[in-house]
Amino acid sequence: MIVLGIESSCDETAAAVVRDGREVLASVVASQEALHHRYGGVVPELASRRHMEAITPVVAEALRRSGLPLAAVAAVSATQGPGLVGSLLVGFSFAKALAFARGIPCVGVNHLEAHVHALYLAPAPPQFPFVCLLASGGHTGLYHVSSPASMELLGQTRDDAAGEAFDKVAKMLGLGYPGGAVIERLAREGDPGRIRFPRAYLENESFDFSFSGIKTAVGRHLNECRNAPGWRPADVAAGFQAAVVEVLIRKLVRAARDRKARRVALVGGVAANRFLRERLAAEAGREGLETHVPQPDLCGDNAAMVAAAGYHRLAAGLRCGLDADVFSRSQ
Ligand code: KG4
Ligand code: ZN
Repeated sequence: MIVLGIESSCDETAAAVVRDGREVLASVVASQEALHHRYGGVVPELASRRHMEAITPVVAEALRRSGLPLAAVAAVSATQGPGLVGSLLVGFSFAKALAFARGIPCVGVNHLEAHVHALYLAPAPPQFPFVCLLASGGHTGLYHVSSPASMELLGQTRDDAAGEAFDKVAKMLGLGYPGGAVIERLAREGDPGRIRFPRAYLENESFDFSFSGIKTAVGRHLNECRNAPGWRPADVAAGFQAAVVEVLIRKLVRAARDRKARRVALVGGVAANRFLRERLAAEAGREGLETHVPQPDLCGDNAAMVAAAGYHRLAAGLRCGLDADVFSRSQ
């Protein structure tokens, strides 16, 4: 079954053609990074307008790259939420209209579940159950996943998401938006041990996260030390990244132990971070855990994961009507 996936929840307009929820025939992502860079964050109004311009050419390009005609598409799957409402409406309305015009089913998917479905597009997807860390710009949570349709939330951030912390620290360092990849690059030239930022583990057994403290600590450090001799932004980037990565990995590994899971997975935009991927592989290896992380281009927002999530919903008999609406937050 060929599913056309559409993603427009934030600042990426994406379309993908996926066979049987497993095989990516084409995946196109048009990023709005350059548009929002100078504002240090996504400007919702600008994002919606850019989605309007990009959606038709992006879908056409995905179909062209797949080598399939539109008639081969059996269903359309689009992100329904959470995300920016104005942005979501563009992709979701496009999906409903296209499905209606073609007389094929349309299905709406949850963006967070879609990130987890990026795992099922790998050549060797994880077997169930596994414990999954989702770390993106809007969300950070730990899940126990026992089937494509069932994810139990074990804990989540009480304030900032991990990616949001990368973005805010990058902004404080004057590195622009988005911050993850820039911090990662800068951190390679820094000493992670030179500045020790706080690690928030919260109460003993909690699987929740908190990243607002480290953001404040970086702000305070910058105020006090940025003019000191020998001070280097690369050491701040490295120290910050090391602290965030340590917390993420410890909680993920502890959740796996707690749930007696033999597999761990990492998804979401932050999962593209090489330092995080390498540290996880090392830690999980020591614990005898099997590790699964999507290929880097399927970690950040993309429509292949949306098509995969839609495929599983369609297989379960789910559809959305023409009156279905988007949602900004997970209920
Ligand atoms: O999953 P995603 O594309 O969008 C959301 O659903 O939020 O995640 C975007 C987030 C941004 O905060 C970005 O800074 C972060 O992922 N990110 C990274 C890296 N690449 C993207 N964070 C750390 N290291 C990276 N290499
Ligand atoms: Zn996302």
